[in-house]
Amino acid sequence: MTTNFAVNRALFDEVMVPNYAPASVIPVRGQGSRVWDQNEREYIDFAGGIAVSSLGHCHPALVNALKQQADKLWHLSNVLTNEPALRLAKKLVDATFADKVYFANSGAEANEAAFKLARRWALDKFGEQKQQIISFSKSFHGRTFFTVTVGGQASYSDGFGPKPGAVQHAEFNNLDSVKALISNNTCAIVVEPIQGEGGIIPAQPEFLQGLRDLCDQHNALLVFDEVQTGVGRTGKLYAYMNYGVTPDILTTAKSLGGGFPIGAMLTSNAIASHLKVGTHGSTYGGNPLACAVAEAVIDTINTPDILAEVLRNEQIFRECLQEVNRQYQVFTEVRGQGMLLGAVLNEKYRGRARDFFLAAADHGLMALVAGPDVIRFAPSLVITEQDIREGMQRFAAAVKQVVEA
Ligand SMILES: Cc1ncc(COP(=O)(O)O)c(C=O)c1O
Repeated sequence: MTTNFAVNRALFDEVMVPNYAPASVIPVRGQGSRVWDQNEREYIDFAGGIAVSSLGHCHPALVNALKQQADKLWHLSNVLTNEPALRLAKKLVDATFADKVYFANSGAEANEAAFKLARRWALDKFGEQKQQIISFSKSFHGRTFFTVTVGGQASYSDGFGPKPGAVQHAEFNNLDSVKALISNNTCAIVVEPIQGEGGIIPAQPEFLQGLRDLCDQHNALLVFDEVQTGVGRTGKLYAYMNYGVTPDILTTAKSLGGGFPIGAMLTSNAIASHLKVGTHGSTYGGNPLACAVAEAVIDTINTPDILAEVLRNEQIFRECLQEVNRQYQVFTEVRGQGMLLGAVLNEKYRGRARDFFLAAADHGLMALVAGPDVIRFAPSLVITEQDIREGMQRFAAAVKQVVEA
């Protein structure tokens, strides 16, 4: 592509809406868990595009699926169905509790569909009074107006005028706080099995089971937002499978496309029947390119070998982080599961996650934060041991830099 202007970070400030503040470097290509910027500087990727690049960059199975579909058919809209969407839906249904799938383009859209479905199901079955949605403080469900409202962070939902009503927030991992809010007017409880953006906080098993029981007692739907935890990231295809607690609706995105935008909502026949023709939709939902890539993602990840590899990689990550901590004493604990881990900063470094994240970038490592106190790692599920160990050496150098500054 020829241009008569410089494509650099300064151009971002010139032409982009200022809702993001991207780093100063611009990556141009990636392979596996390595990424190179415009100056050919190489980075090890422990961020995975925020838990998205589930098979790393340019995985051959995904490149092949995309190229093959690119030569066949790109788009139809939902006036017609298409083969990749049907194949992907069948594979998701066969692999989970669900009978039916709705395709969207992102996590927020999958959740928007889930919340609308829960409301419509409750209206149809019980009447107008059954509207209340209970979710949790610190939860994150996306940036549409309904999803920020259900999310538990006022900083994301305030300042845009009147919010959708009948949404209340309980304390995560505190069943009594849910009991204090729930009634027969509750239509759904929405929860992340591991709170991602909120700080990599795993739900306690008895908490999720308690939510399941409360939903059953009050004829409410249990919605699991597995946008961040889904598609093998915790060592099972979906995190609910670790807990043995089955939701009524599950949302998935991020890792599902391995970098190609797609989201999906999964549910049972009985609940799905309430999204009748015309009640909801999206031009791009079920797009053939996206579904072809996601099918390759599911085929590749949903195997005993790859899921076992996720847990082996977790062990290596934990051992390396423990070693870093032995040297520099910066964490109180490492939380999370599989390739979704959060190193929690101790009292001395509380509030300084961003300093570690920036130092990591200086040393050629892409990491993430989850709030001010947690350094988050969400790399490719199939990252090699060599990349983990080399990335951890860079991380140790970054930690040393912050600690000794
Ligand atoms: C749990 C959870 N739900 C929903 C979303 C929103 O997904 P998207 O950014 O694809 O809309 C995110 C994104 O971080 C998430 O972590």
